[in-house]
Formats: sequence, C-alpha cells, structure tokens
Amino acid sequence: MNKRLIAPSILSGNFADMGNEVKSMSVIGADWVHIDVMDGVFVPNLTFGFKMIKDIRPLSDLFFDAHLMITNPKRYIKRFVESGADLVSFHFEAEEDIDGTLEIIQNAGCKCGLAINPDTDVDVIIPYLPKLDLILVMSVFPGFGGQKFIDGSLERIARAKQLRDKYAPQAVVEVDGGVTTDNAESIFSAGADVLVAGNAVFSAADRRDAVKVLRGE
Ligand code: DX5
Ligand code: ZN
Repeated sequence: MNKRLIAPSILSGNFADMGNEVKSMSVIGADWVHIDVMDGVFVPNLTFGFKMIKDIRPLSDLFFDAHLMITNPKRYIKRFVESGADLVSFHFEAEEDIDGTLEIIQNAGCKCGLAINPDTDVDVIIPYLPKLDLILVMSVFPGFGGQKFIDGSLERIARAKQLRDKYAPQAVVEVDGGVTTDNAESIFSAGADVLVAGNAVFSAADRRDAVKVLRGE
C-alpha cells in the first residue's frame, strides 16, 4: 500500500445524495473511501449497514475501507466483505474472538484492520500484529464526525508506528477523528500512513483543495 493516503468518511456526506458523494471521491483526489458503520450499541449513533456498501460499490473504483463500530462484529463480518468492502476494521473493545474474526475476514479474501479507542492501551494490538493489514488508531471517541482531535493521540500514533515497524511491516497505520488541514502534517509526521477526514473534506469550500492540503501537497 502507498503511504500518505486520504480517506474521506462518507459519514460527513449528504446521505440524501450519497451516490454523487461517492462518485465525487475520485474526482477530488481521495485515495480511499472510509465507510463508518455504527450500531447504536457500541457507539451512541446509527448509520447504515451492508446494503449501503453494496449499493455504492459500483459507483467507485476506489478502495473501500469499512470501519465497523458494532458489537460482536464476527456475526456480520462476512456480509460486509460480500457487500464489496476491500478492508474491514473492527474494534478491539467490541469483540472477544479477535483472532477468529480476523480469520473470517482474511479467508473471505479481504484485508483486515483492528481499531482501538482513545482510552485503550496501544500495546493490546501486539498479539494480532502479524495478521493485520491496518492498525486504526482512534483520535476521538467513535460515534460522531466533527469532534476535536484528542491531545495525546500523537504519542499513541507514534507507538502504533513503532509496533508496526517491528512486528507488522505489511500493515499501515490509519488515524481517525478530528483530522484537519492544520494538524494533518503533525499526524503524518507522528507515523500515520492513512488519514480519515470527515468534516475536513465535506465541509471544505473546495474539497479537492482540502484533500491536497491534508496530504501535504
Ligand atoms: C468517528 C468516525 C470517523 C469520523 C471522522 O466515529 O469513525 O470516521 O466520521 O470525522 P471527522 O474527520 O469529522 O472527525
Ligand atoms: Zn471511522
């Protein structure tokens, strides 16, 4: 995977115009499409499920990065893969059988990621690192777009990068939550490879320009 990627989160898009929002992603220079799935239990908000992914899949050739914020993701993971996700991430805090869940994703021919909340010790990912394609470091508590980047997240990102370099050279480090054109450079410098950006892209006057500035161009 290339480094310094921007993954706009369609959670911040207009749900009434989702087809066009997704089609526009490649036009504005996005690298991935970040798809936030929430169940109203693991997080205090609801978004959408497999059908959304299935319906938008034909509209873009970009890499579909599904971020599951749902309890016991193992139950549904196969259906997310079948709906067209290229990578499925789930939360360490939401699943007891992490190895089994990673295996289901991989056996279905999909890339897999493990997400950790801001109050989870980064080192909990160590046993799973050899299997991971992506480490998702949350820099806000998941549930809503437009929150403020939590202080101290840069140290967590640096630790994730250190662990990645040592145990999982195949994996990328993704950072999600409160990314702005002002802090993107420091997040990349701390060790991120992929930045999720909701508000920073969808509320920008010029989305193409926002993607470029986020990437540091
Ligand atoms: C938070 C989601 C994020 C969020 C990012 O629960 O996982 O992907 O939408 O939005 P911004 O970039 O606006 O913080
Ligand atoms: Zn997300």
